[in-house]
Amino acid sequence: MSAPNKSYDPVEVEALKPEEIERMRDEALAAFAAAGDLDTLQEAKVAHTGGASPLALANREIGALPPHAKAAAGKLVGQARGAVNKALAARQVELEAERDARVLVEEAVDVTLPHDRVPAGARHPLTTMMERVADVFVSMGYEIAEGPEVEAEWFNFDALNFTPDHPARQMQDTFFVQGAKGARGAEGSGDESGVVLRTHTSPVQARAMLDREPPVYIVCPGRVYRTDELDATHTPVFHQIELLAIDEGLTMADLKGTLDHMVRSLFGADMKTRLRPNFFPFTEPSAEMDMLCYVCKGESVGNPDRPCRTCSSEGWIELGGCGMVNPRVLTACGVDPQKYSGFAFGFGIERMLMFRHNVEDMRDMVEGDVRFTRPFGMEI
Ligand code: DAH
Repeated sequence: MSAPNKSYDPVEVEALKPEEIERMRDEALAAFAAAGDLDTLQEAKVAHTGGASPLALANREIGALPPHAKAAAGKLVGQARGAVNKALAARQVELEAERDARVLVEEAVDVTLPHDRVPAGARHPLTTMMERVADVFVSMGYEIAEGPEVEAEWFNFDALNFTPDHPARQMQDTFFVQGAKGARGAEGSGDESGVVLRTHTSPVQARAMLDREPPVYIVCPGRVYRTDELDATHTPVFHQIELLAIDEGLTMADLKGTLDHMVRSLFGADMKTRLRPNFFPFTEPSAEMDMLCYVCKGESVGNPDRPCRTCSSEGWIELGGCGMVNPRVLTACGVDPQKYSGFAFGFGIERMLMFRHNVEDMRDMVEGDVRFTRPFGMEI
């Protein structure tokens, strides 16, 4: 067994030679100084102070030195590592300050820039109008009901007491999606019920009665289709609101009161409606409903000094159709006409928008130009 090597000299250990230690230190300092950003500095830190760095390895060599040589070597390596750590910390502070300054500039928000270069859209006035009308009824406890736009001919016509040869069923008025009845001499075998794009929201009445037990109080806003050309006063796709109330003991007076409440809610407390006799297959009696002209309140009638553009000085504006639900419709939809009665009405939203906002051309409503929709605002 050999005795401890008393003559072991640290300068003989390659990694512990002072010039080697100095070189390691200087390389580390140079790498830190050269690091231009925090990521590079992190890499340099690992390379020059990590467990596998030259100085760490040199430090490990000290353990193998004879006791008398350990102090000097330890001091040498310790000083070098101290200098390296100090330089690292200083560079870290410098680079962090640089990064913070840069982020402040790069992420600054210029509050003087124009804020409206991406123009806000607007909800379509037809949508807001439908919601506004529906809200009047929702607040009275009515339920919103929906039905399909591609509708069975039976719901669109038969259930509503349209006779097989009713003119509205003709191809000139109705978009048929599938087979029309032979009774109209168009196409199909004559037996099957065809499929149409609903021509009105009234089929939702039939659906609502079949879906629910009375009492039924529903309001149905929706899109409807007719084979009209698009022009200033017609559009093949338009919107209606339908209302149906079925209960015991409902009368025409309830219908009138409901209509009056609606126009007061929408156009002002001094508004009213009037009913004119008319015919619809699904109501009996049926009426055309007019509302007082909300601009002149009827004062333009017979008063040439005060003409009214909104009602053409007629004093009244035609709104839509209404009536007491025909007992035949109640029966077709499983409601006992001996026990229940009901009233219904329906009207076009485009028309209402036209006179309420002086829109002169219906095409503006379908073109989707925000210059038309935006002035109506963003109301929800
Ligand atoms: N559905 C009819 C139409 O499109 C409007 C209408 C009339 C609806 C009378 C009704 C009503 O509910 O009772 O012309």
